[in-house]
Amino acid sequence: MTRDYQLFINGEFVPAVSGETFESINPYNQEVVACFARGKDADIDKAVKAARKAFEEGPWSRLSGQERCDYIINLADKISEKSKELLPFEVADSGSTFKKAKGDFWLAANQLKYFGHLATTTKFEEILEDLSKPGVSKNYLLREPIGVCGQIIPWNFPLMMAIWKLGPALAAGCTVVLKPAEETPLSAMELAKLIQEVGFPPGVVNIVTGYGEEAGAALVAHPNVDKVAFTGSTEIGRHIMSEAACNMKRVTLECGGKSANIILEDADPDIAIDGSLYAAFFHGGQCCTAGSRLLIPASQKEQWVEQLVERARQIQLGNPMDKNTDLGPLVSQKQLNRVLSYIEKGKSEGAKLLLGGQKPSSEGLEKGFFVEPTIFGEVNNKMTIAQEEIFGPVLSIIPYQTEAEAVQIANDSIYGLAGGVWGRDTERAFAMAKQLRTGTVWVNEYHLISEKAPFGGYKQSGIGREMGPESLYEYTETKHIYVDELGSREKKFWYDTLIKPSSYSATTS
Ligand code: NAI
Ligand code: MG
Repeated sequence: MTRDYQLFINGEFVPAVSGETFESINPYNQEVVACFARGKDADIDKAVKAARKAFEEGPWSRLSGQERCDYIINLADKISEKSKELLPFEVADSGSTFKKAKGDFWLAANQLKYFGHLATTTKFEEILEDLSKPGVSKNYLLREPIGVCGQIIPWNFPLMMAIWKLGPALAAGCTVVLKPAEETPLSAMELAKLIQEVGFPPGVVNIVTGYGEEAGAALVAHPNVDKVAFTGSTEIGRHIMSEAACNMKRVTLECGGKSANIILEDADPDIAIDGSLYAAFFHGGQCCTAGSRLLIPASQKEQWVEQLVERARQIQLGNPMDKNTDLGPLVSQKQLNRVLSYIEKGKSEGAKLLLGGQKPSSEGLEKGFFVEPTIFGEVNNKMTIAQEEIFGPVLSIIPYQTEAEAVQIANDSIYGLAGGVWGRDTERAFAMAKQLRTGTVWVNEYHLISEKAPFGGYKQSGIGREMGPESLYEYTETKHIYVDELGSREKKFWYDTLIKPSSYSATTS
């Protein structure tokens, strides 16, 4: 039996204006998981109106930080309570392994708590001490919520992406219209139920399911939306940025990556091998931070390649619900085709296929959108597989001669999201990390994103930062209020500049 979900607008569940629906399917067996309302322009318009009303008239933006924090923490607690029940649905909807989805729920609840606390720790109003002088002026710096925010999220971390978007926006006092990815809308709609249970004022959070080119595009084009926050492909990110110009919406974008993961000569093989495979193959490479280019010292090429391939062979593909499965299916047939076509491109451009390269034929995996863990050796950084984001379990190994060359190769990319450096001498590794033009670098680790540290991209990996205190600032406008304390006309800075004192007489009645 499939589940049915409606749109969440103004605190209520309603069908789409058109009455149309769409289905999400389980990437492991292609069975229908759930049915969703297909939101379009008219639904987005209703949601934006509700969000606008909640922002202008509702209490949300005027609540104290502590009050907003309380709502947000309540929601985080509800997520924790419900996680066991909802986990199998997230797995069915997205193809995420059980292990990964379990981590997602835990992280989502904790990250949401952090965002809730930002509502109490952020200085929404402060005095600019340097500028203020008793008897002269007082200068205030205010951080005010931007307003109505349109938020568009992808399918790779469905619940967590919703939290990264909602958390800082709500903490800042904004109201929101969220559009989940059409492949994986289920956990966002379950989240809507929890938002209703917590009793958020109507219109503060609205969630409209639908397709990118319909609901997504309508949200970006809407003249009454003040900001768009997007996570997804660089291609759509660029498009959104230009569309958002219509009313100069603020934008934050978290887009693609082609992160370089660099093994230095002194790296500890025990951790660098498995760590690099985790960097590349976690969630089947469907991570914006995936370490999809592995740079190894040419002098030690054979030993690294041999061990990498050997360990990668041991990665277990299987039913994502099985707790022992390491690698589940990709999210969709479209993504499967896309990844296989990149593998073909790699072969035709002369990269050496060392492992995998196909849809597996093993029993039990027939209906799933699986791709074998795939490793290419002898990759040149100019090749398509080294330049474009594949978003599948495909690792390109690129040998380098000197560390300076490794840096040059790593930075030779339109992307700049993340990177890794592995070496026993952590000072040397840190020195290299500083040279990478990316928003995050891990030394002897990978994929570890903390809610307390800013996360985001250089170059075409995006604009703005999520996580950390910066995440909330991205949802605020900064205002300066100047309060003059001079108290007499003669002391004003303009006295004597515009109107001659002799020709001027103030009326005091
Ligand atoms: P996408 O960028 O098309 O989709 C992401 C979100 O944007 C979805 O909610 C989608 O409905 C929405 N969207 C699509 N077109 C839109 C439009 N014209 N206006 C407004 N919203 C729109 O990504 P897609 O097609 O799912 O995946 C393609 C590639 O994008 C992947 O292979 C991967 O390389 C990259 N990607 C990167 C992600 C990341 O975390 N940085 C996440 C998902 C995909
Ligand atoms: Mg798309």
